[in-house]
Amino acid sequence: MLADRMKTLAPSPTLAMQAKAKAMRAQGIDVISFGAGEPDFDTPDRIKAAAIRAIEKGQTKYTEVGGIPELRAAVCQKFKRDNGLEYAPDEVTVSCGAKHTLYNIVMALINPGDEVLIPSPYWVSYPEQVRLLGGVPVPVLTPEATGFDLDPAELRRAVTPRTRMVVIDSPGNPTGAVFSPEALTAVAKLAVERDLWIVSDECYESLTYEGRHVSIASLSSEVKARTIVVNTCSKAYAMTGWRIGYAGGPKPVIKAMTDVQSQVTSNPTSIAQWAAVEALSGPQDEVAKMAGEFDRRRRVIIPALNAIPGVTCVMPKGAFYAFPNVSGLFGKRAKAGVLRGSADVCAFLLDEARIATVAGVDFGSDAHIRLSYATGLDTIKEGLRRMAAAVRTLEG
Ligand SMILES: Cc1ncc(COP(=O)(O)O)c(C=O)c1O
Repeated sequence: MLADRMKTLAPSPTLAMQAKAKAMRAQGIDVISFGAGEPDFDTPDRIKAAAIRAIEKGQTKYTEVGGIPELRAAVCQKFKRDNGLEYAPDEVTVSCGAKHTLYNIVMALINPGDEVLIPSPYWVSYPEQVRLLGGVPVPVLTPEATGFDLDPAELRRAVTPRTRMVVIDSPGNPTGAVFSPEALTAVAKLAVERDLWIVSDECYESLTYEGRHVSIASLSSEVKARTIVVNTCSKAYAMTGWRIGYAGGPKPVIKAMTDVQSQVTSNPTSIAQWAAVEALSGPQDEVAKMAGEFDRRRRVIIPALNAIPGVTCVMPKGAFYAFPNVSGLFGKRAKAGVLRGSADVCAFLLDEARIATVAGVDFGSDAHIRLSYATGLDTIKEGLRRMAAAVRTLEG
């Protein structure tokens, strides 16, 4: 018999879709994947070389739990350089990817029954991690009409005496939304007023296409004192497999997160840590290069989606996801039956267009599906051509 907590745990749907597309490919079916949550670029050579050097030098043993001093120094320097945030080395910690960092935060700060405000549509792991530890995720609807910007009034309405934390994810997965300065200010004001923790997931910071990324922690020292800023090497440096995420925040919280980690995983891989030192402190030009390429793709995929009857898509301001509204296709008949929700649309697109997408229902909105444009331009064009052709075959 499995533990009770497994009754509500949903496995990651994005990884499930990737696995299904891979299995179809193994059968010789030509599937185009828009499922991936990772850059299609290779990790830059300078970073690989740093890892090779670490192996050759024998830097292959246990390290400090929260990261080698060199990496914590590089993280501090990164926060200062990119976000104007001053942290001491004992105010930052390094984990096995930001997903792990976020889990450590929930472990350190959330008691059973505590409520966590999560703007919706959301990245699936936020509510799952909170639920896993007995917390209560409270979705706060962000309106599509404003490009999924956080609505301060909605946020305020969701607060109860049990609210303990608000999570913000900007630029966000799955919507690509970048929260407006007004929204960030409203979150900060509310958190100070109601004594809430702010978790600011800034994993897609480097993929901000319109304007400059602003960390909510930089709004004031009062806000910084209640914020844990989370980031990762995964997206900015195409390092998803290396598993290096990190956080900056108040010393007692960072210590608690590190203590949790000391009993669960210990340090992240020593070799990956040395690679991350190079990633964060070496020349940053490839970051902007990759962002430029994603931006070009964004400008191709969004108009192509909007050209499909029954599909509308707001222009995302960051990350590498399109989150089109496909509710205009609901009620139409495909070979396998009438499309009634986002999962039906994804199944239809996989069967009839041989393109892999992810159902919005898993991200809190059944009217949408998610397409990652972390794939080449030609693939995007072909995938969208197939999607448009498949949609034309729908009846009704
Ligand atoms: C919003 C968001 N946060 C965090 C992560 C975790 O990244 P990693 O664990 O690879 O650092 C992801 C990955 O998809 C993400 O989309």
